[in-house]
Amino acid sequence: MKKIYIETYGCQMNLADTEVVLSILKENDFTIAQNEHEADVILLNTCSVRDNAEQRIYGRIGNLKTVKREKPAALLGIIGCMAERLKDNLTEQNKAIDLIVGPDEYRRLPELIARAEKGNKGIGVQLSRTETYDDIVPYREDGLSAWISVMRGCDKFCTFCVVPFTRGRERSRSLISIVEEVKELSKRGFKEITLLGQNVNSYHDNEYDFADLLSAVAKVDNTIRIRYTTSHPQDLSEKLLNVMAENANICNYIHLPVQSGSNRILELMNRTYTIDHYLNIVEKAKQIIPGVSFSTDIISGFPTETEEDHLATLEIMKKIRYDSAFMFKYSPREGTKAYKMKDDVDEATKSRRLTEIIDLQQKISSEENQKLIGKVVEVLVENYSRKSVREYSGRTDTNKTVVFPVKEHISIGNYVQIKISKATSSTLIGEII
Ligand code: SAH
Ligand code: SF4
Ligand code: F3S
Repeated sequence: MKKIYIETYGCQMNLADTEVVLSILKENDFTIAQNEHEADVILLNTCSVRDNAEQRIYGRIGNLKTVKREKPAALLGIIGCMAERLKDNLTEQNKAIDLIVGPDEYRRLPELIARAEKGNKGIGVQLSRTETYDDIVPYREDGLSAWISVMRGCDKFCTFCVVPFTRGRERSRSLISIVEEVKELSKRGFKEITLLGQNVNSYHDNEYDFADLLSAVAKVDNTIRIRYTTSHPQDLSEKLLNVMAENANICNYIHLPVQSGSNRILELMNRTYTIDHYLNIVEKAKQIIPGVSFSTDIISGFPTETEEDHLATLEIMKKIRYDSAFMFKYSPREGTKAYKMKDDVDEATKSRRLTEIIDLQQKISSEENQKLIGKVVEVLVENYSRKSVREYSGRTDTNKTVVFPVKEHISIGNYVQIKISKATSSTLIGEII
């Protein structure tokens, strides 16, 4: 039996794809290697979303060349978004790469590996309009948390974003097979399931929409917490908000990327909503789902961004008071519309604005967490804390990390009530009551 080792970069969809790839390869007589040294095939499941993501992977390819020198028969493959974006140019640049396989060609991996073993390059980079791997049960280790890709691709074409090019057109898995998968996960004792898609609001399996899916998934097992990501602010429906409110096990948490607080920049980004529309959704969500919290993504230094646009971003952050945010410097991506615009915000300004955004978010996260001191929150016990086996760590349904002393009769996978006594911008500290 041959041994496979996969390293995963990028978003949760890539993590989910790695599980699909492992499942396909295990069906074809591969076993899983613990590290790159014992592997016959080393795969990097890659991300292209920003230049620094790709640079990191180039660095890793450099390291792996030395592994190949020790074991010349080992194959090195690049799969995922970077494989799709750069295609066979990657093997031309880099002779050590034997396999290039894009996100819609994973079924062909066994055949492409066999081809590479004979000394040819194994290349599969076609995108598909229909592939959803609906019939493949992803390979998962036992655990508490699982993610399920419910759709693939993206049709939004935000002007900065490479994803529609690396992942192709939107398509959805069937509700029925997703619900079956959730039933299996329930039997295996999973306690948290995250439904994934670049824009889950456009999920549609010809019969059911995302609200229907979320509702069906939530009803399988009410001890399983249900999360989802990502919602595009244009399409978040009232029906979806109602489903969240009606099902106690759907987490009161919405990741709602705003990207910028300036309408002018949002238009240049082709985000298709205005700040007013965004604020309306947030208001509606707060009415329908009491206690709902939000996180977001923000890009600083998009082409033509002025100081005024930047201040508008800080302003929306202060208005919404996100629990947390992923904050990035704009990175030009070849092939996108924004790539044709001049990347005219200089590096120093981009960095300074990003720092201001990060500092503000840290202050807000910390203040919001302080407000929880003295309150009682429900936490799923997920693991021992990073520092000590005498402490557990878990999360609230609003995705906040909580650390608390171990108690004998409580084990990982239980839900507990925790009284919060201390808080930082990233962690709550408390005790089981
Ligand atoms: N589909 C999701 C996430 C896509 S990628 C969504 O629409 O929200 C995750 C985040 O990366 C994006 O929300 C955006 O903030 C950031 N991002 C994408 N392309 C980028 C680029 N070229 N430069 C900087 N950040 C980018
Ligand atoms: Fe990219 Fe926009 Fe699609 Fe998100 S919605 S993946 S940012 S194109
Ligand atoms: Fe990266 Fe591809 Fe995900 S570009 S963010 S791995 S969809």
